[in-house]
Amino acid sequence: MRKTSALISTFFSLVIMSLIAIPAHASSGKLGGDFELTAHTGESFKLSDIQGKVGVIFFGFTHCPDVCPNTLLEIQRLMVSLNDQSEQLQVLFISVDPKRDTPDKLESYVNYFNKNIIGLTGTEEQIAKVLEQYNGTVSFSGDTDSDTYNVDHVANMYLINKQGDIGSIILPRTPFAVLEQQVRKLINQ
Ligand code: NI
Repeated sequence: MRKTSALISTFFSLVIMSLIAIPAHASSGKLGGDFELTAHTGESFKLSDIQGKVGVIFFGFTHCPDVCPNTLLEIQRLMVSLNDQSEQLQVLFISVDPKRDTPDKLESYVNYFNKNIIGLTGTEEQIAKVLEQYNGTVSFSGDTDSDTYNVDHVANMYLINKQGDIGSIILPRTPFAVLEQQVRKLINQ
């Protein structure tokens, strides 16, 4: 019984994934688009800088206890699985916690998972604008004057096609095989 329901839920995840794949060049007011932030190197970074590559955008913060580390481990697994093709992929980790996530902090964090991930941060206004473009949410709880507050954040992975548009959105708990298949599809487009 349990096995059957797991199969059914995997099936529905696949169906949902195919439903939310967003066509390129949707009507105006579409999700996504270019933005400018600061990379962990301290240099200015635009999404359009990676045009011609497939992008993965993930919002998070370095103090995250679970979602971010798990997602970054999944991304590391994806890079290994893509092997040589991983050169055609650029993963972007955008901090939603610029107060604590300085470029230096981001650098050591993303490098821990994979040396090719770019950590991005910016002013609160810049980050709020990118979140709005990608319809992402963030909320802070606890004492934000301390170092221990928590941040709830959108946990989708936004896959960006070679033209810089959203190619598909990977929801939390999507099976790894679906993520890999969607990324390969965009690389081979
Ligand atoms: Ni997180």
